[in-house]
Amino acid sequence: MIETAQAFGIDIGGSGIKGAPVDLNIGDFAEPRLKILTPEESTPEAVGAITKQMLEHFEVPDDVPVGIAFPAPIKPGKPLDFMANLDKSWLGVDVQAAFSEACGRPVKLVNDADAAGLAEVQFGAAKGENGLVIATTLGTGIGTAIIYDGVLVPNSELGHLTLKDQDAEKYAAASVREQKNLGYKKWAGRLTKYYGLLETYLNPDLFVVGGGVSRMSEKFLPLIDIKTPIVPAKLRNQAGIVGAAYFASIHQD
Ligand code: BGC
Repeated sequence: MIETAQAFGIDIGGSGIKGAPVDLNIGDFAEPRLKILTPEESTPEAVGAITKQMLEHFEVPDDVPVGIAFPAPIKPGKPLDFMANLDKSWLGVDVQAAFSEACGRPVKLVNDADAAGLAEVQFGAAKGENGLVIATTLGTGIGTAIIYDGVLVPNSELGHLTLKDQDAEKYAAASVREQKNLGYKKWAGRLTKYYGLLETYLNPDLFVVGGGVSRMSEKFLPLIDIKTPIVPAKLRNQAGIVGAAYFASIHQD
């Protein structure tokens, strides 16, 4: 692995598994990332094998912290009890133990939206922000991270609030815009309802909007009609990898 990297991050998503060595001095990739499509049957065995392949591909040394961002609430030592967008065979699995076994080394697990939120606070759009920041990722689902005065309150699952009689992410995620072929204006109407709900109940000081679609933010962000300031993620789709690497680097025991 390249010398300028101090940690390695992997982001496991519904459509792709992405990994890169991370330079934590600048909060960016130290080498271009590798992306492998998420297997159709995204079981612990199949996904675990891909993460091992990533570490081998980049020749990550044993003493380098490895962090994995995963799309579910993470409680190391406890069985997973909720899974929205990967194979249901993850239920009951201790995710951190399973990945450590698959990779043949200890790895640290963090929820994917929490990883992205941490990266934005440390290196990006929420750097230096006090008060309540809600970082969101719009992708296959909706991920949320709650950060107060720079401190993460982990495992929020606000993408699953009920909106229009359904799971909010089934109404407003970026994947829904694609499947239903919604124009940005129509989608922004849905996002106004979603962020409006978060605003009413949590009164944040800032929303940060991440996920792949954040690179098109000028097409929909100005159309979201709420009172709270809402800004695009600075690290965009890299935030999961950078945040996972950062998380691992501060949680070495
Ligand atoms: C999951 C969250 C995850 C989000 C984004 C949701 O469906 O429940 O844990 O952060 O998707 O991937």
